[in-house]
Amino acid sequence: MDATVTAAATAQTPFSTLIRVASHEQHTEAETSSFMSDLLGGKLPVDAYARYTEQLWFVYRALEEAAESLADDPVAGPFIQPELMRTAELERDLAHLRGAGWRARAVPLPATAAYAARVAECARDWPAGYVAHHYTRYLGDLSGGQIIRDKAERTWGFERKGDGVRFYVFEDISNPAAFKRGYRELLDRVNADDLEKQRIIDECKRAFDFNGAVFRELGGEFPLSA
Ligand code: HEM
Repeated sequence: MDATVTAAATAQTPFSTLIRVASHEQHTEAETSSFMSDLLGGKLPVDAYARYTEQLWFVYRALEEAAESLADDPVAGPFIQPELMRTAELERDLAHLRGAGWRARAVPLPATAAYAARVAECARDWPAGYVAHHYTRYLGDLSGGQIIRDKAERTWGFERKGDGVRFYVFEDISNPAAFKRGYRELLDRVNADDLEKQRIIDECKRAFDFNGAVFRELGGEFPLSA
């Protein structure tokens, strides 16, 4: 196919498809990273799950502290939806996993600190970049997150959809499949030209890289002894 034809095909492909396809390979890498495989394989102690949950807390704080100021933004605003907010759920999970004093002991890994800083930077300076981070986390949590919840409940005995796994439970989203369809429509209508859409895709890849780096550092803290 010559370049003009390819560009025309790309212009006609819904943005939600472009971003999914562009991140597909990195998604597979994330799923099959050794930390995730070990976690989902039931091979790691609950402490590893707690440490991972703690890292998520730093990332979601960055995502959600910015939510109010972005609510009226022409690009990021439509994505800000209260039913997605996860910080309160993560805090409940962490109190359960780590005990009442968890907050004072929570420390971000270097990769987590870099990830959260980039989210905060996008939120402040580049709302379209924030959309990339929003998509990478929330659409993932609504999808594969449910697999992780099921595995965590079985491996460490958390009450079904209870403390420890509340992060994965979206109480106010009764139909995740319909919600994801609506989310993809928001992506397809995003207030950005083709160049900016390409930049969003690039930032999404960066978001996957950040997640991969967090997994690598977690893997370093919890190597398999076997
Ligand atoms: C072992 C870990 C994971 C599993 C089992 C998993 C599984 C899945 C599954 C089954 C879907 C398909 C949903 C659908 O077609 O509607 C999905 C979608 C998605 N996942 Fe994951 N995932 C994992 C890790 C991750 C990570 C680490 C990220 C990034 C932080 C991520 C981000 C996404 C995104 C953004 C989507 C939505 C793709 C789209 O439809 O546009 N996932 N995941």
